Amino acid sequence: MSASVSVTPPSVGVWLIGARGSVATTVVAGCAAVTAGLHTPTGMVTETPVFADTRLPPLSSLVFGGHDTVDCPLPKRAEALAAGGVLPQGLPVAVGAELAAADREIRPGGPLPGDTRTPDELISSHAADIQDFVRRRGLARAVVVNVASTEPAPTGAALPPSSLYAAAALRAGCPYVNFTPSTGLQHPALASLVASCGLPYAGRDGKTGQTLLRSVLGPMFAQRALTVRAWSGTNLLGGGDGAALADPAAAAAKNAGKERVLTDSLGATPEGETHIDDVPALGDWKTAWDHIAFEGFLGTRMVLQTTWQGCDSALAAPLVLDLARLLARAHEAGLTGPLAELGFYFKDPVGESPAALGEQYAELTGLAERLRAAGPPLGEPGAGQHPTPHEETR
Ligand SMILES: NC(=O)c1ccc[n+]([C@@H]2O[C@H](COP(=O)([O-])OP(=O)(O)OC[C@H]3O[C@@H](n4cnc5c(N)ncnc54)[C@H](O)[C@@H]3O)[C@@H](O)[C@H]2O)c1
Repeated sequence: MSASVSVTPPSVGVWLIGARGSVATTVVAGCAAVTAGLHTPTGMVTETPVFADTRLPPLSSLVFGGHDTVDCPLPKRAEALAAGGVLPQGLPVAVGAELAAADREIRPGGPLPGDTRTPDELISSHAADIQDFVRRRGLARAVVVNVASTEPAPTGAALPPSSLYAAAALRAGCPYVNFTPSTGLQHPALASLVASCGLPYAGRDGKTGQTLLRSVLGPMFAQRALTVRAWSGTNLLGGGDGAALADPAAAAAKNAGKERVLTDSLGATPEGETHIDDVPALGDWKTAWDHIAFEGFLGTRMVLQTTWQGCDSALAAPLVLDLARLLARAHEAGLTGPLAELGFYFKDPVGESPAALGEQYAELTGLAERLRAAGPPLGEPGAGQHPTPHEETR
């Protein structure tokens, strides 16, 4: 008779840049709610059978921390989200301990108003915060995920805040995910660091609503040999994201990703624009309209219109949890560089990725297969000897 030994999986850190925002708060509250069995993991692709036996870190093993430039406590932020219908009533109280624990792990980000630190000092300070988190909490590794406010594309040589955080993630030896349209690792000044970091990374800009629909409908028109004459879109949203995107430069960064999906799937950029309007009264609830003018047999003109009414943070949070688990497991399995197979999750994916959602899903299942084949996690018999974040940077 063989005795079965139950091994507690090692804890894995999720370090959120923008840790007090709507998406981050929904991630922390949602993970605690699913772990406690209060809600099902609806919207989490990593909880579907495709990922069975891929040895992803369980949700119960995730430990949250992060950077933010505001100091509103997470439990208070969660109450505000519940009042707006983003989180279920009562959830902030039910998971109050987990929200408070994550709140204790949030450090002031930067640059703060009047900050005199140089870019390198900011990178070192951010990296030290992340390494301290990993060390104190005894984590096997930590994944850094950018869910901070969208920033405008940089115009000069200076690194924008998202790139300082991305460089800090690499300096701390952590896999990195850019869930926003901000520059992050894609700044030319970081190219050699990125090429030599030996870490997996993914991005950019989570594909949760209008663009998700576009990545299904664009290939449909192309495959049915229907000619798209114009594709126009409008988004109405409020919340912090709506306010950030009221800045035309930030909105331009967002819209570039939305257009890339159409250009890639149709083979050319169609006529038409995408607009984003800040409507504070809507909070986290977004309405996105698309108007697609197309032409069929004998030049007959037709129109498809779609209306998407979604709760942005409820759409984004399960994807952030998926990505944190996938990057942690990819790091453990020794995968490095851009994880193009994660194009399924992004508007503007890193690496070579097909544009159609169906093909992207096939690539994701290929990644699941790779992770399944990569062997047991560290700490279990037969585990591979991949370095911990600290060892890698020495
Ligand atoms: N469906 C979605 O919700 C979705 C989809 C794709 C991308 N995104 C992106 O996710 C991001 C977060 O969205 P949100 O709705 O949570 O926004 P939010 O405004 O609620 O939260 C953003 C947080 O970032 C913080 N922040 C700003 N500058 C910072 C800095 N320099 N350092 C650290 N923190 C900083 C803010 O204080 C705030 O707490 C946005 O960039 C958004 O475009 C969201």
